[in-house]
Amino acid sequence: MDINLLKSRFYELYGDGDIDMFFSPSRINLIGEHIDYNGGKVLPGAIQIGTYGIARKRGDNILRLASENFDLKVVTCIDNLRYEKEHNWGNYPKGVVHEMKTRGYNVSGMDILVKGNIPNGAGLSSSASLELLIAEMINVLFNEGNISKIELAKLSQRAENQFVGVNCGIMDQFAIAMGKKNKAILLDTDTLVYDYIDMDLKDNILVIMNTNKRRELSDSKYNERRMECDRALEIIKGHKDIDYLCQLNIDEFEQLKTHIKEENIRKRAEHAVYENDRVNRASEALIHGEIEVLGELLKQSHKSLRDLYEVTGIELDTIVFAANSYDHCLGARMTGAGFGGCAVAIVKKTYVDDFISYVGKAYKEKIGYDAEFIVTGIDDGTRQI
Ligand code: GLA
Repeated sequence: MDINLLKSRFYELYGDGDIDMFFSPSRINLIGEHIDYNGGKVLPGAIQIGTYGIARKRGDNILRLASENFDLKVVTCIDNLRYEKEHNWGNYPKGVVHEMKTRGYNVSGMDILVKGNIPNGAGLSSSASLELLIAEMINVLFNEGNISKIELAKLSQRAENQFVGVNCGIMDQFAIAMGKKNKAILLDTDTLVYDYIDMDLKDNILVIMNTNKRRELSDSKYNERRMECDRALEIIKGHKDIDYLCQLNIDEFEQLKTHIKEENIRKRAEHAVYENDRVNRASEALIHGEIEVLGELLKQSHKSLRDLYEVTGIELDTIVFAANSYDHCLGARMTGAGFGGCAVAIVKKTYVDDFISYVGKAYKEKIGYDAEFIVTGIDDGTRQI
């Protein structure tokens, strides 16, 4: 990213004066998929690609938003913010401003320019990256940086839930706000208790595989899965006092599952309970340097997301199958919400180039267009730069 170019674009748009610059990463999730709204554990990390932003306070209550990734510019007044479809990407920053105002934080007008290098629609959470970017700008510009990162994550999630209307869990915002260089975050999404685990993959490396199948139209399916899990929880609650599906261990689930008569609903719950168990085993494996074990768990996770949770699709299944059939790949799985977007693979460092050409070729032969591969480190969370 050419930050000087971004600066000159800012001056062109908004004129000379003081500026502050920020960076907000995107994220991958190693394992623990679709359970951050079931009170489960997840194991994500922030990555080196993300959203850059420049901001300047204004003397009034006008918010001007521009992006180098979209033509659309938004000008609005922060006194009266509401979701407007034609404001498109601008609704995320507006949602964050609205939420911070509602919570009583200081905020007034700003000029903002953003530019992201996250592939579009790749499921690496460009929306949470943007939300945290704006939240941190307001934190630094108006609140002396006193708002905690966890509070910024929570209010960004709420902005996405309430203002934008996507019912996401806390994982993405938390990982992006709390990311740490070379650490995975083991997060209990019920209690928000978390631990940093060294992301030491020994002589292996993480490869992000973008199917280039955009995650469009996936939000309605996402909300549908959430509703199915709520339904399973409601049924189980008739027999055992729990707040979240992931409070059940495998034995408890196996005893209770017969109460869930609808097969689809039972499959969703089965995924949640077993995936949570896999996260516990995966974090132990990572702590003890058992990368083969971790790889196997990634494979099992994908299978469960494909067969039980049904959020993969031909593109993700093809790329993961190709990766898992490569000799020096320890394991691969989809990451994020699914229905397109990205997968992750753990690959022997010395074979990365060969892996990429092998998987790239297999993918193109079957799907008809290219996949994209990103090798990037695990990095710090949203920050001023
Ligand atoms: C999206 C959501 C997250 C999480 C994942 C699936 O990224 O934003 O909250 O539910 O999907 O694990």
